[in-house]
Amino acid sequence: MSRTIVVSNRGPLSFRTGAGGELVPVPAAGGLASSLHRLLAGTGTTWASVTMGAADREAAAQGLISEEGLDLVPVVVDDATYRQAYDVVANTTLWYVHHHLFDLPHRPRFDRYWRTAWDGYRAYNRAVADAVVARAGEGDTVLVQDYHFSLLGRMLAEQRPDLATVHFLHTPFAAPAMLAVLPDDVRSELLDGMAGYGACGFHSHRWEACFLACYDTTGRASPRTFVAPLGIEADVLVAEAESPACAAAGEALRAETGGRRTIVRTDRMEPSKNIVRGMLAFEELLLAHPEWRGEVVHVALAYPSRQGLAEYLAYGSDVEHTAERINHAFASPATGWTPILLSVEDDRARSLAALASSDVLLVNPVRDGLNLVAKEGPLLNRADGVLVLSREAGAWEELALDGDGALGVNPFDVSGTAEALHLSLTMEATARRRRADALRAAVQARTAADWWADQLAAAGSS
Ligand code: F6P
Repeated sequence: MSRTIVVSNRGPLSFRTGAGGELVPVPAAGGLASSLHRLLAGTGTTWASVTMGAADREAAAQGLISEEGLDLVPVVVDDATYRQAYDVVANTTLWYVHHHLFDLPHRPRFDRYWRTAWDGYRAYNRAVADAVVARAGEGDTVLVQDYHFSLLGRMLAEQRPDLATVHFLHTPFAAPAMLAVLPDDVRSELLDGMAGYGACGFHSHRWEACFLACYDTTGRASPRTFVAPLGIEADVLVAEAESPACAAAGEALRAETGGRRTIVRTDRMEPSKNIVRGMLAFEELLLAHPEWRGEVVHVALAYPSRQGLAEYLAYGSDVEHTAERINHAFASPATGWTPILLSVEDDRARSLAALASSDVLLVNPVRDGLNLVAKEGPLLNRADGVLVLSREAGAWEELALDGDGALGVNPFDVSGTAEALHLSLTMEATARRRRADALRAAVQARTAADWWADQLAAAGSS
C-alpha cells in the first residue's frame, strides 16, 4: 500500500539547550507546523523535517525526535548549510521575492557570498531528497510544504520517478518581474526545480496565476497546479479560546484597555505583515477623526520570528519606535489612555482573547500566502467585529464575499486604511452583525482536513 511522506522545514518537535546544558523539547507553535501536527497526530504518517541547530542534531542523535503515532524523520544538516539555506536564501531572498519586499535601490545583492548560500540551499534540498529517497517505498506520495524546497521536485523526479510528488506553497508566488530580480541561472534552476513536482498547490488563484505567468514569460512548460486554501479546525480552536487561560487573558486585556473599543492585530514580527503602516493608519485615524482619542486602543500583538536575521530585528525596532512615538504624542495620563498597546511576546492566550473581543481586526499584509489570523478572528469573535483585510492577502479571495465580508484595503494606502478603520468603528450594529455572520460561515465552510485531502487528490492524479 502506498504511504504518505510529508516534508517541511520546521517539524512538530524541536529542541533547545537549557541553562544546565540539557535538551529541552519545544513543541511546534503557530503556523504551518502546528496545523500539520494537529492533522497528522496519531496517523502514523512519515514526516521529514530539518534539524534547526546543534540541539536538534543532538536530539536526533539520541533518538529524541520521535512521537507516538507519527514516524518522524529528522534530516540532519550542519549549521553553515542550514544558515545559508534558511536565513540567506529562504528567508531573506525567496521570502522577499515572493512577498515583493525588496527595497530595490539597496537590496538584493547577488554577490560571491550569496552564491555560496545558494550552494547551501542546493545542499539542503539534496539532504532532504536523500532522506526521502531512503525512506520512500515504491509509488509513495510525497507532500512537500513551502519555499524551502524549490529544488527538491527536480531532484526527486530524477532519483525516484515512481513517487507522486506535490509541492504546496504557503507564501504568494512572485510576479514575473519580481522573479526576474534573481540571477538568470538561479531563476531557471528554481523554475526547473518546481517543474519536477507532479503538481504545485497554492492558497489562492492569484498566486497560481503568478506562478503560471513566470513559466509563460520564460517560455517553459509549467507543472500541473491547483488551488486549495487552508481551513481551520473550528472546534479545536473554539475550545482553546474558551479555556481558563484565555478567559484570564481576556480579563487582563480589558483592564489594560480600560474597557475601551479595540482595533486588534496579531502577527509574527515580520516585514510582510505591515505592522508599521497599520500603526501609521491608526495615527491618521486619531488625526482625521479626533473624536476617537481616548475612546479606542490599538492592540498590536507581534510575536518574535526569525530572530537571527538583521532585517527582521530592524523591522521589530521600527515597530517599537513607531508605537512609542505615537504613544508619546497622543497618550492621556489623566484618563489613563495609552493609544497603542504593543506586546512582543508569544502569548497565545492573549492573542486568542484579543481576537475574541476585538471591535476591529486589522490584517493588512503587504502580500501574504493566505493569512490564518484573518480566518481565526471572525471564527472566535464575539463582538460582531469588523475585519479590515489587505486585498494582497490570499484569504481576500475567500473573505471579500462580494462586498459583504471583509472591508478591503490597499496595504500601502495609509489614509485609505485609516478611513476603513473609521468606517468599521462607525458601522451600524446590524451591518456589523450581517458581515460577521457571513465571515464566520465562510470560514467554517472549509477545514484543514479539506486542504489536506486536496493535496492527496492532487498527488493521486499526478
Ligand atoms: O507562512 C509561511 C511560513 O513559512 C509557514 O510555513 C510558517 O508557519 C511560518 O511562515 C513561520 O515560519 P518559520 O518556520 O520560518 O518560523
